[in-house]
Parts: sequence; C-alpha cells; structure tokens
Amino acid sequence: MTDSIPAQSRAHEIAIESLLAEDRTFPPPAAFAAQANVQDPAIYERAAADLEGFWAEEAATLDWFKPWDRVLDWEPPFAKWFEGGQLNVSVNCLDRHVAAGKGERVAFYWEGEPGDRRVLTYADLLAEVCRCANALRELGVGRGDRVAIYMPMIPEMPIAMLACTRIGAPHTVVFGGFSAEALSDRLNDSAAKVVVTADGGFRRGKPSGLKVNVDAALATAPSVEKVLVARRTGQDVTMAEGRDVWWDDLVARQAATSEPERMESEDMLYLLYTSGTTAKPKGILHTTAGYLLGVATTHRYVFDVKPDDVYWCAADAGWVTGHSYIVYGPLANGTTGVLYEGTPDFPDPGRWWEIVARYGVTILYTAPTAIRAHMKWGPRHADAHDLSSLRLLGSVGEPINPEAWIWYHRHIGGERCPIVDTWWQTETGGIMIAPLPGLTTTKPGSATRPFPGVEADVVDERGEPVPPGEGGYLVLKKPWPAMLRGIYGDPERYASTYWSRYPGMYFPGDGARRDTDGDYWLMGRVDDVMNVSGHRLSTTEIESALVSDERVAEAAVVGRPDDLTGEAIFAFVIAKGDIETSEALGQELRQHVAARIGPIARPKTVMFTPDLPKTRSGKIMRRLLRDIAADRPLGDTTTLADAAVVDTIRDASRAGKDEE
Ligand code: PRX
Repeated sequence: MTDSIPAQSRAHEIAIESLLAEDRTFPPPAAFAAQANVQDPAIYERAAADLEGFWAEEAATLDWFKPWDRVLDWEPPFAKWFEGGQLNVSVNCLDRHVAAGKGERVAFYWEGEPGDRRVLTYADLLAEVCRCANALRELGVGRGDRVAIYMPMIPEMPIAMLACTRIGAPHTVVFGGFSAEALSDRLNDSAAKVVVTADGGFRRGKPSGLKVNVDAALATAPSVEKVLVARRTGQDVTMAEGRDVWWDDLVARQAATSEPERMESEDMLYLLYTSGTTAKPKGILHTTAGYLLGVATTHRYVFDVKPDDVYWCAADAGWVTGHSYIVYGPLANGTTGVLYEGTPDFPDPGRWWEIVARYGVTILYTAPTAIRAHMKWGPRHADAHDLSSLRLLGSVGEPINPEAWIWYHRHIGGERCPIVDTWWQTETGGIMIAPLPGLTTTKPGSATRPFPGVEADVVDERGEPVPPGEGGYLVLKKPWPAMLRGIYGDPERYASTYWSRYPGMYFPGDGARRDTDGDYWLMGRVDDVMNVSGHRLSTTEIESALVSDERVAEAAVVGRPDDLTGEAIFAFVIAKGDIETSEALGQELRQHVAARIGPIARPKTVMFTPDLPKTRSGKIMRRLLRDIAADRPLGDTTTLADAAVVDTIRDASRAGKDEE
C-alpha cells in the first residue's frame, strides 16, 4: 500500500496563509552568544562543503568499540552511516560518563504526578539499566528480539529503553495513552517477544490502568511470551502465571553490572510507530550509530547544553521527542534532566513553574499546544514562581503561532531567553531546521535555518524551487545520520512515501515557505495527516475506526484550526439508512474512536451528513470538507460531482456546534 499525497490545492491555501507576514526579529543576546557552544557561523559552510567530514568529526565524540570503515554509503533512498563501526548506546549514555568520574552527576530528577520524587545519578541509572538488562536476558530476550514498552513516565521507562539498547534488543515504545487495540497492532507488526509495562500510571490525580490494556492486547498478540510489570499505582492487576513477572521480583535481584553487546552501526535501535496517510501506522526504523550521533549533536548545538545545565523536555518518552531529547541525546551528552509524570495543570496550572523553580531548570523544551494552554490559564501562575534560572526555551511539534511565541518569550523567558523553534519528525530522528541560539536571529513563527549539513528546499509540484515568499513543499536533498532507515517490513512503502514524489529528494509531507533572509516558515501538513496537540494522527485511521461501528456507512475526517490544539478532529459521518442520528450517537462514536485508538484520537466534533462531496471519480474532496469545518469560503468546486451536496452539509454544519 502506498501513501498518496493528494490535495494539491492545499499548497495554494498555504501560499495564501503565508501572506500573514511577521517581521519582528530577535538577535541572540550578546551575553548568550559569547558563551554559546557554536559561535562561528562557518559551521554551516564547513558542513555543506564536506558533509561526511563534518559528521565524522562529530562521531569522534562518541565511544566506539571499533571505529567505522566508511562514513556514508548512499544508494538512494537507502543510507548506511559509519559501517564497520561497533558501539553500544547505553555505554555512550551511561558507562563512559561514570568512567570519566561523573557518576555522581544527576541524570534525572524525577517527579511523579502525586508529588513523589526520585533522584537518579548516572551511577544509579547505570546500575538500574544493568539490572533491567540482566532481567530481560533472563526472560529470554536476545540480540535482535523486539521488546515493547508501554509505561507511564516513571524512571523505569528510560531504564527499560536503555536496557534494551544494552542487550541489542530493539524497543518499540507505545505511548501509554494508546488503547489495547492500538497496542496489539504494534505488538503484532513488530512481533514483540516481551512487553514491559506498569500496573498503571497517574493522570490528573487518578490511577489509570496500563496492565489491563496489555492483558486485552495479548489476546490477539501471540508473539509475546513474557510481561514485565513495574508497580506504580498499586492498583489491582491480574498476573498470568508463567507469563507475567513483577519488576520488583525479577529486576531487583539482578547484578548491577551487565556486559553490553557490541552493536554494528546499522543494527536496528528501535521502532516507533507513527501515523501516515493510510489506516496502518508505520513502524519507523532507526539504527544505532547515526541516530545516536544525530540526536547528541543536535542536542548539544541547538540547546547549547553545558555540564551544569538542568534541562527539561516536558514531553512523554512515548513519542519521538522523548526518545531523542529526553533519553538518548541528553544522556549521550551527560546532561542533567527532569522527568515529570503528569499533566501541566495538576493539581493546578502552576505545577510546571514550581518544577522549574525547584530544580533550577535552565532549558525548557515543550510544544506550542502546551504554551497555548498556559496562555489560557494566564501568566499569574508563572509569575508566582522564580523562573530566573531559565536561559533557553524550545518549541516542537507544530508551527508555533507568533502570539504564543511572544507569550513564551515574555512570560516564561523573561525576555532574556532565546527560543529555538525546532522542526523535525519521527522519521528524521532529530532536529533538522532550528536556530543555533548563539548565532541565529530568530523570528516568531519561523524555525529559521536547516541544521549544519542539512540541505533543504521549498519546491513546487514539479520539484522546482519556488521564489522567496512563496509557499510550496519542503524537501530534504541530502541524507543525514539520524534519518529513518525504513518502514519496518515494508521497504516499498518507505520508498514510495518519502522518496517518490520528487526523485532523489526526501518529502516529509509539510508545506513551507522561505523568506528573503532564507529563513523557513513551516506551514503544516499537506497530506491527509492531522496535527493535534503536536501529535500526528491519520485521517484514514480515524475514518476506519468510525466505520468499524456497524451504524456508520461512511466517514470523512479533517482537521479544523483550533486555538488550543492547533488542529481539532472534525468527523463527517454518514449513518446507515435505518439508523436514527442523534447527539447521543455522536458521543458514542467519539467514544468508540477513543477506545479503538486512544483518547487523543477522539473527534472533537461529529457531524452527521446525508452525503459527502466527491469528485466524479468518487474521491472525497477533503479540501471542501476542511473549508466547511473551518467555516471558510469554499474554494474551487468545479470537479465536484454534485454541487448541491456542499450546501446541504454547510447548512447542517452552521446549524450544529461542537460536542465538547
Ligand atoms: O508537520 C510537522 C510537525 O510535526 C510533524 C512531525 O510529527 P511527529 O513525527 O509526531 O514528530 C513530532 C515531534 C518532532 C512534522 O511533519 N512539526 C514538528 N515540529 C514542528 C512542526 N511543524 C512546524 N514547526 C515545528 N517546529
């Protein structure tokens, strides 16, 4: 199956949106620039002139069991980086820091939602990771076996991830908010042998079950042989004899040392599933050396991390942001990090700022949707805490609207902290377009420049570069170390999704424009992928969840602009002939989607409609549906089979309202 990329007209929408010019600029403060990790702008030319030399120099900062023979082997679209080299990710993240006498440095300040706390030094973390690695080996996990991790944000989550890397078992982390069914799909696609989970996690003061979902998922996931269960909430769980083991029983009694596997550079490090334009999530495959190098380097340069920083990436490790910038990048750099289990407004909207003040956080990395939530709660919560330790702020997940950027700058950064708006994706592994904070003049809403060595462009339908100021499609023209190596089990889908639209160029699915300074402004997805609160959701996946309810004949899902979440899910539903539609049915369908995929996929609005606008060849015209959902003037309707349909839907839409 291939991901199709329709909606050419979306580029026009984008071009029009891009007329909203933002002209404020923020040069790096002199004092910041003077201490920055990167101060010489020649880094860009150096990397462009000698891509392999640039990355080879950076790669020398990692610990290798055996040096590589060759930096890059590029047979588009398949790249191999640092072939012949051998290394271990956990050794790079832990052992080498301990060996260098930094064992007492804090790796994580962990804070649970109820307020419990734990401090793990690098020495502590290494010991725990070794114990867990030994435990996994005892459960029969060997090099190459896949381990699924379905956990709350407790220290055991990064411990389990690192333990997998120690024994060469690729992990696949499934976000704890996903349903049993979504978990089961991922267990099956990856043929996972072991699941690491917890009894549950805390969410807004209440324990929510995880083990119960694992039990349900395992009914349809025969590859799983063992389940390792950490105790978090103390809630009742069922333990299957011979299959399920408590972390406390198995891990605690293991030795605190464990021989690391010597991994090849291109050995699989992990799989992470993400939504594409079809109903089937893609298992994005990352390998060992290039990925570690990419995240460590970008973390050091974009966040300007120093040994005495306290760095907090307020994401969940279940998403790629957490993989790259909570776990692997920061630990490879020996950084002290904060790990927080809960929501930003529990028990009140001051919680984050209390954490910043308590640990003296110096660098904060979060998503625009969270910033907008804080804006809504008001600056008084931040004002009530001492945020003077902060020196750099980051943003990721979706385009940041200038209003949120300025609020972040003023109320959180005290107008002194540079903001790095970082564009990247699960597939890119690490940051691709972002300021270097000691060099780059930032502009609210622009991710600014491609990272050194990244060659980007904005092109039209034919793949020709567009002039400055014009909207088009973002492409990447050179391979990079942390790039995905494929979609698990589906090389064809990998080639067709990312590399076929413009031969020789990587197409990430985003619209963009470049201004006359060469700065990039990202303008959202151009395919059938929505971005809700910085999380990617496929319209098709939600549609197929909707039609799996027997009362639904057809469904079309689009994203509608939303002040808080960026986009909100709007579902147009045609009920089967004999079904009476009602608000209650709409609620049931929303709940049905949440149960099938997870609460993040619950449509904000379900609108029943007698018909959907289709082209004469029967293709649903999503662009029109997007216009209707957003209550915008309709674009071109000439290819519509029955023009009356849109009027009917539009009237119904205007009469209806959000169901939340
Ligand atoms: O559309 C872009 C948007 O998020 C997509 C990637 O989503 P995901 O793989 O879930 O990873 C999110 C965290 C890296 C991109 O294709 N996106 C991410 N960061 C930005 C962004 N859009 C604009 N500006 C950003 N800084």
